[in-house]
Amino acid sequence: MRIDIITLFPEMFPGFLAGSLLGDARDRGIVDVRLTNLRDFAEGVHRQVDDRPFGGGPGMLLMPGPVVSCVEAVQADGPAPGRVVILTPSGRRLDQPMVEDFSHAGRLVLVCGRYEGFDARVTEALGAEEVSIGDYVLSGGEVAAMVVVDAVARLLPGVLGDDESARQDSFSGADRLVEGPQYTRPRDFRGLSVPDVLLSGDHARIARWRHEQALAATRRRGPAPERSVPAHQPHRSAS
Ligand code: 6GU
Repeated sequence: MRIDIITLFPEMFPGFLAGSLLGDARDRGIVDVRLTNLRDFAEGVHRQVDDRPFGGGPGMLLMPGPVVSCVEAVQADGPAPGRVVILTPSGRRLDQPMVEDFSHAGRLVLVCGRYEGFDARVTEALGAEEVSIGDYVLSGGEVAAMVVVDAVARLLPGVLGDDESARQDSFSGADRLVEGPQYTRPRDFRGLSVPDVLLSGDHARIARWRHEQALAATRRRGPAPERSVPAHQPHRSAS
C-alpha cells in the first residue's frame, strides 16, 4: 500500500515512521509512506499558503490553490491516484470499520490541515473525504494523519506477526466488542490475583469467560456518541 502525507510540517514524521511495527513494514515493502511539503506548492516570494477568511473571523485558512495543486502533483506521481482524505475536526469520526475500509484502498493521500482549517472548495475540487479522529481540537492534522497511518498499517497482511491478533483486537469482531481484562505473570501481584478460570486449562470455559468480560467492558464504555445536533436556536449576536 502507498500512503502520501501532505503537510506543512514534514519534520514531525520521521520518528513516528521509524517506529517498530511501521518501520519494519516499510523496510519489508508492505507500506510505502511518502511526505510532501505543502509549502513547495505555494506561489509568490512569500510562499503564502494561508489567508484570512472572507466574512471575517479569527485565524487563517489554507488557500485552495496550493492544496489542490499539491494533491494533483502527488496523484500524478505513481501508477494510480489514491483516495484523498482531509484531516479536519469537522470530518467524519474515525472508527475501526473506516480504518478497515482504508486498509483496502491500495493508495491513500492524507492532507493535514493547520491554522483554522481549509477553504471549503478544497474538499469539493478534490472529491475528498473529511475525517476527524475525535471530538477535541488538535493544532493540526499531522497527529491525526499518524493515527490513520498507524491504525491502517497494522491491518495490512504481514504487518502483525500473527494475522489472528488483528482479528481479535478490540472493535474487530462481528460484534465490535472491546477486549476484557488480560493477565500475565506473576499469578499474584501485591495481593491481586489472576482469575482462577484463566489457570483452569478449560479452553471452552476460558472462551466463555472472555466473551462475558468483553460484553461487560463494552457495556461499561457506554453507547457510541451520537451524531446529534442541538435543536435550532435563533442566532444572537455578541453585542
Ligand atoms: Cl483530523 N485535525 C485537527 N486539527 N483536530 C482534530 C482532528 C483533526 N481530529 C480531531 N481533532
